[in-house]
Amino acid sequence: MSNAPIGIFDSGIGGITIYKEIHSLLPMENIIYLADSKNAPYGGKSQEKIIEYSVKNTEFLIKNGCKLIVVACNTASTNAVKYLREHYKIPFIRVQPAIKPAALNSTTKNVGILATNGTLKSELLYETSQKFAQGVHVTEQVGEGLVSLIELGKTNSSEMIKLLNKYLQPMLLKNIDQLVLGCTHYPFLIPQIKKIVGKKVNILDSGEAIARQTKVILEQEHLINNSYTKVSRKFYSNGNTAVLQYFLDTFKENLKAEKINF
Ligand code: DGL
Repeated sequence: MSNAPIGIFDSGIGGITIYKEIHSLLPMENIIYLADSKNAPYGGKSQEKIIEYSVKNTEFLIKNGCKLIVVACNTASTNAVKYLREHYKIPFIRVQPAIKPAALNSTTKNVGILATNGTLKSELLYETSQKFAQGVHVTEQVGEGLVSLIELGKTNSSEMIKLLNKYLQPMLLKNIDQLVLGCTHYPFLIPQIKKIVGKKVNILDSGEAIARQTKVILEQEHLINNSYTKVSRKFYSNGNTAVLQYFLDTFKENLKAEKINF
């Protein structure tokens, strides 16, 4: 079982930002990545729909032999992981917006969070803010339209820059010094975001923390891959593989995006 792959899924290509951290911390692990791009974005959908897609993704990964699943999507993590843990036996790792470190690091006591509507209205986010952001003012902003543009590969388009300015300028007026990226697609926008918020705002995403958590759980469950066979990494998309391929090519590791009908 320990040489079985780790499964990672997202509503699209955003979870690649999580894959990158997992592969860098656990290079010996086999990986299957699934981009449900056909159904992206999840952010504005009902919880029932998000659970339905998450179940479908989970079944695909389990059928392909995965030993653990990383739900590399904040929207699915906040809305569906509880259900998945109740219905499947393998371990699930969920992503969570980095509110706790942001609140701890903030000197202005003003923190911004950019996420999808599905994540911002979730119970889990509410609980996290209640628990870790006491005494800190959190400005929430729905990143409406950002995921769709990223899925089209339009990270540098004028539409993107316009939207980012619209969402971030009001946060700057509120004197934020920490910006939490509460969606795994958004780290692709860090260069563009930095140009808007400047050096005084620290940008936080959850990639490294998720990779560390994945390692802890694999160790705990005795699932770390100790066999020294060639590592296999597969990347599937049921949408536009060209965009997935574009982001995979940035790693310069000859990774291939494969199309699946699903
Ligand atoms: N990457 C997903 C997330 O982290 C995007 C959600 C969506 O599809 O709207 O929330």
